[in-house]
Amino acid sequence: MNSNWIAPSILSADFARLGQEVDQVLKSGADIVHFDVMDNHYVPNLTIGPLVCEALRKHGVTAPIDVHLMIKPVDRIIPDFAKAGASIITFHPEASDHIDRTLQLIKDNGCQCGLVFNPATPLHHLDHVMDKLDMILLMSVNPGFGGQKFIPYVLDKAREVRKRIDASGFSNIRLEIDGGVGPANIREVAEAGVDTFVAGSAVFGAGKDSDPNRYDSIIKSL
Ligand code: DX5
Ligand code: ZN
Repeated sequence: MNSNWIAPSILSADFARLGQEVDQVLKSGADIVHFDVMDNHYVPNLTIGPLVCEALRKHGVTAPIDVHLMIKPVDRIIPDFAKAGASIITFHPEASDHIDRTLQLIKDNGCQCGLVFNPATPLHHLDHVMDKLDMILLMSVNPGFGGQKFIPYVLDKAREVRKRIDASGFSNIRLEIDGGVGPANIREVAEAGVDTFVAGSAVFGAGKDSDPNRYDSIIKSL
């Protein structure tokens, strides 16, 4: 069984002071940094790319950076993210024509890899690749924006994936959830078998800008 990880999504951080924001959540106890990449094509929003990942590494961030690609096509940007310091790279199976090839490409570039499932995306894409995966990410909102409401039926999906992980024998695979997670539902999500919790607006919306320890209590409450 993996230990639980809290993964603040920097999508909801103050981008004008991103380095300090990331320092603060890590100092407050976050385990990894969730890095949402959107292309205004696969999802209707546009965010950040390898340059920003590299800037966080240059700033001194040593924690794992969990790159969630919401882009199509996927493959050509993977080597750039690996060079920029990504630790884990996940992508949506619908966005890759060759899922096995994309997973292998991520591994060949020295990163951990995972598949992401939108709320209504079926799980059959897991059938042949469990031995390749380091992470399975379940979206509990439709991707594209922070601050949306948690979709409850994803809890059933989480229980199903937990069973598959346990039955596969690859118990190191992390089960991550992303969207609408906060103090009100995180226990229930954990009981469904999740071990890695993305939280964007719940974390970065906490406290007052002027408080250097503003993220302490929210992260400790998760
Ligand atoms: C949505 C992103 C999420 C998002 C989560 O497409 O993948 O990581 O930032 O934000 P909250 O926690 O606010 O739902
Ligand atoms: Zn995400």
